[in-house]
Amino acid sequence: MKKKISLTGIKPTGRPHIGNYIGAIKPALEMAKNEDYLPVYFIADYHALNSVHDPAEFRNNVYGVAATWLSLGLNPEKAIFYRQSDVPEILELHYILSCFTPKGLMNRAHAYKAAVDKNLATGLEQDHGVNMGLFTYPILMAADILLFQSDIVPVGKDQVQHVEIARDIAESFNRTYGASIQLPEYKIGEETAVIPGLDGRKMSKSYNNTIPLFAEAKELEKLIKKIKTDSTPPDEPKDPDSSTIFLLYKEFASEEQIEEMRNKYIRGISWGEAKQELFQVMNAYLEKPRENFYQLMANPNQLNEILAAGAEKARVLCKPFLHDLKKIIGCK
Ligand code: TRP
Repeated sequence: MKKKISLTGIKPTGRPHIGNYIGAIKPALEMAKNEDYLPVYFIADYHALNSVHDPAEFRNNVYGVAATWLSLGLNPEKAIFYRQSDVPEILELHYILSCFTPKGLMNRAHAYKAAVDKNLATGLEQDHGVNMGLFTYPILMAADILLFQSDIVPVGKDQVQHVEIARDIAESFNRTYGASIQLPEYKIGEETAVIPGLDGRKMSKSYNNTIPLFAEAKELEKLIKKIKTDSTPPDEPKDPDSSTIFLLYKEFASEEQIEEMRNKYIRGISWGEAKQELFQVMNAYLEKPRENFYQLMANPNQLNEILAAGAEKARVLCKPFLHDLKKIIGCK
């Protein structure tokens, strides 16, 4: 039986943090264990080009994402793992799809609308600072998805609209030609639990409250010590479920460890001790991936080879379909 395709695009931005890992990377790697699916992962570097114009930063972000996923256990033999810009077929489809995308649909896309709203609120011209890469971002994403006839697209909530737009565009193409581009379904990560950051708010780069995933042990320990706690005295019972320390602990500890920690909270554990225990489990869990990560980052050639082999596989997979589509529109 032909395997279903599960496709995930990863935008290469900055240093990944614990929130990214728990919310996106871990569930995606879990999903890859499902034998019914062929997992397709790619680094959406062209999607970053609408905002990142520094070549060193651009390159480094791509390597960072590649090394992150590989070091956390993505197996490039079992998945298709590539860099978007290595697969030019995506751009061919992007153009074709743009001819089936009403401009009004793009006007309504969240990211563009947010930019417009911000401009208007500050008295600027509505399209100030908006380039066509930002405006047509959803079309490129539709091309990413539709080119591989994806069955399922695991995404965060903020990306649902984009998958819906991909479906709209595919339907418009299908209506025109009586064709049947596969309509993708989205799957929102069950992990809807908000991962709290150092200050207790959602862990997010914009709040400056993140714990970098591959922080060296010393930095990790220092950051964990900064986690905000209340002034409950050391011996008094504490509520595990409202504690940032406990919520993070749960993500890295075994079932037994979690149970034991829960009991300690109820009996009374000092914040200092809880933080020390969190550091121990987190560091043990991340030690090996961290080492792999830095080793890969020091070997960009190795990363390039892995990505090039992935792009080769991706192109073999998508070329016949693009050929069919070109025939349908009359290019062949
Ligand atoms: N837009 C997505 C994000 O910002 C990344 C992405 C690009 C993507 N192409 C995709 C995700 C295709 C899923 C499918 O996170």
